[in-house]
Amino acid sequence: MPNIYQPAEDSFLLAEVLKKKLPLLVKKNLDLKFLEIGCGSGVILRAAFDSGIKKENIFSCDINPDAVAHCIDLGFSCIQSDLFDKIPAQKYDVIVFNPPYLPEDEREPEDSKRATTGGKKGNEIILRFLEEAKKYLKKEGRIFLITSSLAEDVDFESLGYFAREVSSKKMFFEKITAWEVRR
Ligand SMILES: C[S@@+](CC[C@H](N)C(=O)[O-])C[C@H]1O[C@@H](n2cnc3c(N)ncnc32)[C@H](O)[C@@H]1O
Repeated sequence: MPNIYQPAEDSFLLAEVLKKKLPLLVKKNLDLKFLEIGCGSGVILRAAFDSGIKKENIFSCDINPDAVAHCIDLGFSCIQSDLFDKIPAQKYDVIVFNPPYLPEDEREPEDSKRATTGGKKGNEIILRFLEEAKKYLKKEGRIFLITSSLAEDVDFESLGYFAREVSSKKMFFEKITAWEVRR
């Protein structure tokens, strides 16, 4: 998978959170609808499936066509889309995003930038995602999202959300955080 983001600390942090949270949500709603934006190698889709979500209720997209082809090969429903651009108008119980969240570094090659760089301040793609997600999230639905201490903070409340830190990991000079976000 040369051109696809390889699972890293952020992927594993999010997968661990989902493996704890999703089985409880599936118990309450056997027909839970799950959407991942930016599915990459499919590691999070696999965590969703292993948590008991029906495969036909797992949807995903990536802006990278190689990631899309790979996740389709794994048997998941996946389309090429820039965030929600091509996502059919439907409401989801859970929406997940391990986004590109780092501030721009001009030395980074363009192809890896797509998976890691969230804009000049680092949080621009996340802000776009949170704005667009409102249309796709069920009233009682949840978003699970990763952020980094290297980027500008996300002010969830000003965007109309309530967010709770559910896990985090400190690495040398960075802390990555997994959030559970509701409206
Ligand atoms: C940090 S990687 C996470 C990949 C995988 N979900 C994981 O946890 O390992 C970010 C992913 O988002 C995708 N991506 C970046 N910008 C996107 C956008 N605007 N719309 C959809 N996907 C995007 C990248 O191609 C990449 O696969």
